[in-house]
Amino acid sequence: MLIGVTRETKPGETRVAATPATVKQLTGLGYEVVIEAGAGAGSCLTEKAYVQAGAVIGTMEEAWSADVVFRVNAPELPDVERLKEGAKLVAPLAPAARGDLLMALAARKIDAFAMDAVPRISRAQPLDILSSQANIAGYRAVIEAAHHFGRFLAGQVTAAGKVPPAKVLVAGAGVAGLAAIAAASSLGAIVRATDPRPEVADQVKSLGGEYLPVDVDVEQSTDGYAKATSEAYDKRATEIYSEQAAEVDIIVTTALIPGRPAPRLITAADVASMKPGSLIVDMAAAQGGNVEGSVKDEVITTDNGVTIIGYTDLPARLPAQSSQLYGANLVNLMKLLTPAKDGQVTLDLEDAVQRGLTVVHQGDVLWPPPPVQVSASPAVAAPVQTPQKKAERKLSPTAKLALTGTGSLALFVLNASAPSEITQHFTVLMLAVVVGFYVIGHVHHALHTPLMSVTNAISGIVVVGALLQLTVTDNVVQVLAGVATLLTSINIFGGFSVTRRMLAMFRKA
Ligand code: NAI
Repeated sequence: MLIGVTRETKPGETRVAATPATVKQLTGLGYEVVIEAGAGAGSCLTEKAYVQAGAVIGTMEEAWSADVVFRVNAPELPDVERLKEGAKLVAPLAPAARGDLLMALAARKIDAFAMDAVPRISRAQPLDILSSQANIAGYRAVIEAAHHFGRFLAGQVTAAGKVPPAKVLVAGAGVAGLAAIAAASSLGAIVRATDPRPEVADQVKSLGGEYLPVDVDVEQSTDGYAKATSEAYDKRATEIYSEQAAEVDIIVTTALIPGRPAPRLITAADVASMKPGSLIVDMAAAQGGNVEGSVKDEVITTDNGVTIIGYTDLPARLPAQSSQLYGANLVNLMKLLTPAKDGQVTLDLEDAVQRGLTVVHQGDVLWPPPPVQVSASPAVAAPVQTPQKKAERKLSPTAKLALTGTGSLALFVLNASAPSEITQHFTVLMLAVVVGFYVIGHVHHALHTPLMSVTNAISGIVVVGALLQLTVTDNVVQVLAGVATLLTSINIFGGFSVTRRMLAMFRKA
C-alpha cells in the first residue's frame, strides 16, 4: 500500500506527519511512501533526506490519493473529495465535535482513524499524539512565558543586590502541566501546581514543584480522561486561584475536559489582582480558555500590565521534535495495523485500541466506541485529608506519653534480662536506625532508587564472613563459603554498577 503524507495548510502549522526517520520505519513495514512537495519544509526536513529514507516526492494530488493518508490536522470538508474512495485516513478528527466530517468520510467509504481518540490504556501510550504534543506544548509554554517576562526566573545573589526567584503557578498537572512544571523549575522558578486528581501530588513534587491540594473529594475518571469538577471543588479552587494570583508572577493554565469547553479557572478579578509585569499562558485558549479575557492565538496586555498569551500552536513552535514524535506515534499505529509487516492494513475491531480510534469504517460511523476501562485505572485516591480529619487522626498528648512510656519500659526490661552481648548489639542497632533515618531522610527522594542499589552493594559486607570461613578445614563449609563469596561479590559489583548507571541519568551532559 502507498502512504501519502500531505502538506499542512493550516496557517502557522510547521509540522509534518512523517519525517525521514519515520519513513524508514514505514518502508520497513512494507509500505511505499509519497511525500507532498514542500511538506517537510516547516520542520527543516529536506526532500533529499526523504528520498534517501526511501520516499518519493509527489504532487498534492498524488499524496491525497494514496491508499493511506497521514495528516497532522483534520482535513477540511472539501479535502475529503481528494481522498480515494475506500482509502484510510490517519489524523486527529475531533470526532465528538465533528459529526459533519465523519458523515462526509462515511459517504466516501473512508476508514478513518482518529488519533485524538486513542483509549487511555498503557498499551496505547506509544500512539497517543495528545500526550506527545502536550508534553512539547507544556515546555514551550514556559519558554514563551520566560521570553515575555521581563525578569530572571531563577533567583540570584549578585554584587549589585539580590534578585528573588519568580513564582510560577501551573493549573492542571496532566501531561502539559507536568512538562511546564519541569521546565519552570529547571529554570529556577518556585513552582506550585493544582489538579483535581490528588494522585499527581507526588509527580508534581518529583519535578520540583509544590502541590496545592483542593481539599474536596473528586469523582474518579474511569476512562483516563478528565471529568468536570463539582461545584464544591470549583468554589474552593477559586479561592486558591485568587490567593495565588495576587502572589505569583507567572500562571500557566492547562486544564482541559474532553468534549467540553475548557473550565474557567482565572477570573478577570484574579487577573486584575496580579502585579504589573506578571504573565499568564492560557494553554486552553483553543477550547475557550481557562482565563477570562485570553484571546486565542494572541498576546494581549491588560490595563494593569498583565500579559496574557493565548497561543494555540505551541507544539508547532518546536517543529522538528513535534514532527518526529507525531510521526513516531503514527508509525506505532501502523505497526499495530500491519502485524505481518507486508504493507497491508489489517484492521482488528475486536482490539480495544483499534476499535477506540476507528471512527468511520466501510461507510459506517463507529463513534463513540464502547467505553474502555483504563487498565492502570487511577489508584483509589487517598481520602482527602481535611484539617478536621487530620486532627481526628492525631493522638492526644496523654496517649502519646503513655505509648512512649510503655515502649521505653519494654526496652528496659528486655535489655536488663538479656545477655550483655545482646545489649551491645541492640545499642549498635538503635544507633544505626537513628543515623540511617536522618541520613536517608535528607536524601532527595528522586535519588532513593540509586541509594537502594548502593545500600544493596554495601549489604555485600557479609562477604567478609564468607572469606573468613574459606580457611576452615571442613570441605562443606569451604564450598558454602565459596558460593557465599561468589554471590555477595555479584551483589557488590552489580549494586555499584547499577548505582553508577542511575546516577549517570541525573548528570547533565
Ligand atoms: P487533559 O489534557 O485531558 O487535562 C489536563 C489536566 O487538566 C488534567 O491533569 C486534568 O486533571 C486537569 N484538569 C481538569 N479540570 C481541571 C480543573 N478544573 N482545574 C485544574 N485542573 C483540571 O489530560 P492529559 O494531560 O492528557 O492526561 C491526564 C492523565 O492521563 C495524565 O496522568 C496522563 O499520564 C494520563 N494519560 C494516560 C495515557 C495512557 O495511559 N494511554 C495517555 C495520555 C495521558
